[in-house]
Amino acid sequence: MPSSVPVKPLKPWFQTLDDVGPVLNWATFFGNNQPVELDIGSGRGLFLFNASIRNPGTNFVGLEIDFGEGRRAATRLMKRDLANARVIGGDANRALTEVIEPGTVAAAHVYFPDPWWKTRHHKRRIFNPAFLEMLQRVLVPNGYVHHWTDVADYFEMVQSLMDPHPGFVRLPPPEERDAENDMDYQTSFERKKRQLGFPIYRALWQKRT
Ligand SMILES: C[S@@+](CC[C@H](N)C(=O)[O-])C[C@H]1O[C@@H](n2cnc3c(N)ncnc32)[C@H](O)[C@@H]1O
Repeated sequence: MPSSVPVKPLKPWFQTLDDVGPVLNWATFFGNNQPVELDIGSGRGLFLFNASIRNPGTNFVGLEIDFGEGRRAATRLMKRDLANARVIGGDANRALTEVIEPGTVAAAHVYFPDPWWKTRHHKRRIFNPAFLEMLQRVLVPNGYVHHWTDVADYFEMVQSLMDPHPGFVRLPPPEERDAENDMDYQTSFERKKRQLGFPIYRALWQKRT
């Protein structure tokens, strides 16, 4: 696309970390005091879309490093004029360490994070010991971490970090049910992987008080 073509204004559904920082106050951002849940690596935004419609009393924020994907998700939210769903473009690591105020997030959802298949690339995986401390920092007491993936070795790695961590307790995952239509999946990646017949690994943890 030539650089002279203007990008569609999607504010407030899509903003970058620089737009919303240096410190993000949720009450100012949303204009209310509803609980806030994060979708880390929100991709095309299917989770944000469905969850915000089903739970109007909760605010949902996608953190997405790929601005193209983030804008696409935000367009979907804007078309429904959803007041409780937003996408912030930027690196989730930065958002979780610098921009989001400590103890302000009711739940973090991490669905189908990039697997970085090659062993030498594993260090790029979003789930690592530092990421757990970032989750500890932003979550409210008793806040939740939801994680789904189709990659068995990724799931094992996440469990091996989360299960022994003194700041988290593992809970049973939400009950599984069949999708009723093409939009009735947790995320776009879940739809793709389920339709290919892959098993989906799901886990839930809660931050200890
Ligand atoms: C495999 S996709 C999954 C997308 C979505 N969660 C789903 O299940 O359909 C992983 C997403 O995480 C995003 N991502 C990767 N690293 C990130 C980071 N550091 N901060 C924010 N988003 C990130 C990627 O751009 C991509 O959209």
